[in-house]
Amino acid sequence: MPLRICFVTAEMAPLAKAGGLADVSAALFKYLTAAGHDMRLFLPAYSSIDRKGIDIQPVEFMRHMLVKIGAQDFPYSVLTASLPGSSARFFLIDCPACFARPGIYTSEADEHRRFLLLTHAAFMSCQRMGFAPQILHCNDWHTALAPLWLRTTYHSDRLFAHTRSVLTIHNIGYQGIVSAAHGAELLAGADDSLLHQPDLHAGRINMLRTGVQYADRVTTVSPGYAREILTAEYGMGLEDDLLARGGAITGILNGVDYDDWDPRSDRYLPRHYGANQLRTKADLKQQLLARLGLRDAPRRALVGIISRLATQKGFDLLIDALPPLLASRDFNLVVLGAGEPQFEDFLAQLQQRHPGRMHFHLGYSDELAHWIEAGSDMFLMPSRYEPCGLNQLYSLRYGTVPIVRRTGGLADTVRHFDAATGTGTGVVFNDYNIEAVIWAMNTALDLYVQRGSWRRLVQNGMAQDFSWQRQIQQYSEMYQQLVQQ
Ligand code: ADP
Ligand code: GLC
Repeated sequence: MPLRICFVTAEMAPLAKAGGLADVSAALFKYLTAAGHDMRLFLPAYSSIDRKGIDIQPVEFMRHMLVKIGAQDFPYSVLTASLPGSSARFFLIDCPACFARPGIYTSEADEHRRFLLLTHAAFMSCQRMGFAPQILHCNDWHTALAPLWLRTTYHSDRLFAHTRSVLTIHNIGYQGIVSAAHGAELLAGADDSLLHQPDLHAGRINMLRTGVQYADRVTTVSPGYAREILTAEYGMGLEDDLLARGGAITGILNGVDYDDWDPRSDRYLPRHYGANQLRTKADLKQQLLARLGLRDAPRRALVGIISRLATQKGFDLLIDALPPLLASRDFNLVVLGAGEPQFEDFLAQLQQRHPGRMHFHLGYSDELAHWIEAGSDMFLMPSRYEPCGLNQLYSLRYGTVPIVRRTGGLADTVRHFDAATGTGTGVVFNDYNIEAVIWAMNTALDLYVQRGSWRRLVQNGMAQDFSWQRQIQQYSEMYQQLVQQ
């Protein structure tokens, strides 16, 4: 049964991407729309969006809208947009006061307000369009107040009488903790007795916690992470709220949009390859090495990393593990990323110390990301925690062996290789410590020189299928269940 879905997100690829949330929002929009659902997606019209090639039009009846947040009035307009080659249209919320900033996220004092505006605008646009969503799907802390507002602020509108809310947690490490002094803005008329009282007494409001309390269904992006966040080790203080929701928490693994991430058709690559054309992959590696100024040698592996440079991703381990590894083993390393200054500085210094062997590209580049997936032999992801992770999935398809820690979505998607039986798709280590990363890298580098085993490992990975088609089915079923409840 086709459903009416209102989907609200802070990121969507390729327009506004900081991480995997963007890929996932874009894929859910594309595949749920293709499955016949009437999906209305709302995204901020960030001034940083590159509008080239995107068809953007104002919506006449949604110009000069106004929303009051706290004591302040915010004017905004609604635009529709479609991506090249697609007729599906989504909505951009154009509010220069909130979204004319250098990037998607800021560390400014009104950060929460920018996303409150997005959330209000999604509700108000539904009202203007007379669109009665059966499902309101919000994502991460940014839009996590929507389930509360559905029961309070917008409750009296008949349009939302049958709307069920879904909150997807892509990352529990970011919760949107705001001073209770902003209570009036956050509550939008709701009674503060509805908020978590210990937070309130401590002078704060936790947006993600509020979403967990009031969403009809909470989901996260892998079954493994759904189990982990119920524990004190991974729940980051929300484990009790999640436990209180009992069976309402579902883990649906993210998929890969193979239209974008497949070496047989990758738009950034001059030549394409499948599992039986690994010569082409080797040639692409040579081109990448030349471009990055890295020196090749016989059987010298190229290890790739593409990542937000954040503690979550295990860079505190790499600070201690990479220098001894580079000193003791023969491999090249390419890192693409930006983030916390301490990690940027470390990588810049590492590059200086190992000219010709280590290349650090500071910044964001979709094109280089595709090249690294194609040209590298291995991909390193030693995450402290990982709700799903997409790069290990991309790496599998590109024949780039993932070296991952056994956590969250990484544990769900990569199987440790057993040379005796020839089964497995990567190198997986358990403990979050330096010795374990070093062990994993040594294991991978030792395997790399055993040609037969390595080829098997590469081809096992390339044969995996994590396409969205299957995962979309799970979202559809979850929505249907909710609507029928
Ligand atoms: P997270 O969402 O936690 O950052 P994921 O693995 O789910 O982790 O998704 C990260 C996405 O962002 C991938 O598509 C990856 O290629 C991309 N990405 C991260 N950093 C960069 C960068 N510096 N340049 C290009 N793409 C990047
Ligand atoms: C988050 C997580 C990542 C996940 C992505 C998309 O940013 O850190 O593991 O793949 O969201 O769901």
